Amino acid sequence: MTKAIAIAAGAGMILVYAGLMLLVVPSIQLSGAKPPAEAQTQHSAEEIRGRELYVSLGCVYCHSQQPRDPAQTPADRERGWGRPSVPEDYTYDGPHLLGTMRTGPDLFNIGARQPSVDWHLAHLYNPRAVVSWSTMPSYPFLFRETDIVLDEMQEVHLPEEFLPSEGHIVATDDAMALVKYMLSLDHTYPVEKLTAEEPEEEADEAETETSSLDATGEGSAS
Ligand code: HEC
Repeated sequence: MTKAIAIAAGAGMILVYAGLMLLVVPSIQLSGAKPPAEAQTQHSAEEIRGRELYVSLGCVYCHSQQPRDPAQTPADRERGWGRPSVPEDYTYDGPHLLGTMRTGPDLFNIGARQPSVDWHLAHLYNPRAVVSWSTMPSYPFLFRETDIVLDEMQEVHLPEEFLPSEGHIVATDDAMALVKYMLSLDHTYPVEKLTAEEPEEEADEAETETSSLDATGEGSAS
């Protein structure tokens, strides 16, 4: 019986500790967070639809949306993925799509890095049409074939070997919504303070270029 009480008490303590560390402490830490003025407050219905597709098509399994701090690793900045993200960036993002895997590049600033609708459409139809070595899946069901391209249709411009023998490929509303969502991913606005302080052990190297922080988002748009 005393064993059961000890187990219950232990489990209770773990629960209280987890609640404190995962709920109470973070909400205190974030209570003063103000969204940057430039952060997008309103998402269009089309962008929201695109975001739903991003989730349902599993894009989040291969793509993150969280460039890391150069104090942690300079790699993300060197790849041109932009300044480290801060909690405020996600204010209007629910649920956030931080992602945990990076089979493909981080997409936090893809709208700034690649603003071409044509490029995104061709890439979604078949990534190999624009990046020969790509391992990303094709999403041909977001497109349809047509004999005549009407004014209101968005044709996909592809290299000849990716075109059907007859007719044209045009984007469906879903493909356009997903592209609009991609283009809305642009967090290159400056933020007041960046996340972590310099880690202690790296303080000696503080003068090196890689560990210096700036809030300009420099290098993210090309
Ligand atoms: C199996 C993993 C995988 C999945 C799932 C996946 N991607 Fe990718 N993605 C990649 C890889 C690898 C690349 C890099 C090669 C390339 O550009 O095609 C990439 C590249 C990209 C790029 C270009 C990034 C850049 O910096 O040039 C975009 C945009 C993109 N993916 C969007 C999407 C969207 C939208 C979805 C969901 C519909 C998706 N991806 C699903 C693996 C994936």
